[in-house]
Amino acid sequence: MTEKAQNKNLNQAKTNKKDEFYTQLSDIERELKYYKKHFKDKVVYCNCDDPRVSNFFHFFSYNFEKLGLKKLIATCYKSQDMDLFSQNNSEQAIYLEYTGDKNGNNIPDPNEIGIKKLKGDGDFRSKECIELLKQADIVVTNPPFSLFREYVAQLIEYDKKFVVVGHQNAITYKEIFPLIKDNKLWLGYGFKGGAGHFINEHYEDYATATDRKEGMIRVSGVHWFTNLEINKRHEDLILYKNYTPEEYPKYDNYDAIEVSKTKDIPMDYDGVMGVPITFMDKYNPDQFEILGATESEGKGFSNGLWDEKSKVAQPLINQKKVYKRIFIKNKKL
Ligand SMILES: C[S@@+](CC[C@H](N)C(=O)[O-])C[C@H]1O[C@@H](n2cnc3c(N)ncnc32)[C@H](O)[C@@H]1O
Repeated sequence: MTEKAQNKNLNQAKTNKKDEFYTQLSDIERELKYYKKHFKDKVVYCNCDDPRVSNFFHFFSYNFEKLGLKKLIATCYKSQDMDLFSQNNSEQAIYLEYTGDKNGNNIPDPNEIGIKKLKGDGDFRSKECIELLKQADIVVTNPPFSLFREYVAQLIEYDKKFVVVGHQNAITYKEIFPLIKDNKLWLGYGFKGGAGHFINEHYEDYATATDRKEGMIRVSGVHWFTNLEINKRHEDLILYKNYTPEEYPKYDNYDAIEVSKTKDIPMDYDGVMGVPITFMDKYNPDQFEILGATESEGKGFSNGLWDEKSKVAQPLINQKKVYKRIFIKNKKL
C-alpha cells in the first residue's frame, strides 16, 4: 500500500470513529422536552440507530404514550466494510417498529417490538430506508458527522421535519447555510456548556476540560439542528450597547462593520454587521435578517458585500484576518 493510501485509510478510520459517538439519554431528554407538542400522532424515524444501543430509540419507546406517538421506526446500519471501531457487529441490518404498549405495563417489551430484516445494509440513503423515511413525519437522531451534508439534503428533499445532532461548523457549509438563511433550518436549544459528551469505548479522550467524563468523548461545538418550531427562536436577544465607529470598525474588504461578540451587537446600528457563527444560537428571524456569510465559505455567499478586488475571502480589519462571519441586519430599526 502506498503512503498516500495508508494515510487515506487512517483518516477514514478516524472519521469512522467519530461516526460512532453515541448520544446520552440525558442530552436527548434535555433537548426534546421543548418539542413535546410536535410529536402527537406522529411517526418518528431514527434512521442511524442500532436499537440495542441507541438512546433515541430508548427515549421514544419509553415515552411513546406520553408523547402520543403513532409509530416509532428505527433502522440500524450494518457497515459492509466493518472496521475495528464499529459497534455494528450484527449479522444483518434490521429495522424495528413499535406502535406502543399493548399489555398495559407502559414499557416497550421485546414481544411488542417488531423486528424485521432489511435486505441491504441499512444505509439511510438506501431504497428501503427511503421507503421508511417516506412514512415518517419527524426524523430524530445523531447521524454520522461525516455524512451530515448528504443526510440533511435528504431530509429536505423528502420534506421531513427533523431534530438532529450536528457540529456547529456545519452552519456555514455550502449545503447548509442557504437553508439557515432561508429559515428552513435553525439551531435547537443545545448541549450543556456547548459541548456534548458522547458514549464511545474506543476513543481516548485527550480533553483537558474539567468536565471530562470516563468512557465518554467530549465534543465541543455540537448542536441540535431542527426545522420544528421552538419558542427560543422567537425570543429577542437583549441588546445594550451603542454603536461607535471606534468600537465597531468596518472591514477592509466587506461592506459591513465587525461585531466580534454576539452579545455586543449594537442596538442602534441599522447597517450590515458581521457576527461570529455562534450568533446562530441566538438568532430570532423577527429581530434579525441574515444577508450572507463570508466568501471563504462559498462563492457569492456574501450577497455582494465582498470587495472582489481585495482577492481575500476572509474578513480583514486593517489587513488583519478575523474569523469567518455571518452578515446580519437588525429588522426592528
Ligand atoms: C454519531 S453515531 C450516533 C448513533 C446514534 N444515533 C446515537 O446517537 O447514539 C452515527 C451512527 O450512524 C451509523 N451510520 C454510519 N453510516 C451510516 C449510514 N450510511 N446510514 C445509516 N447509519 C449510518 C453509525 O454506525 C453510527 O451508529
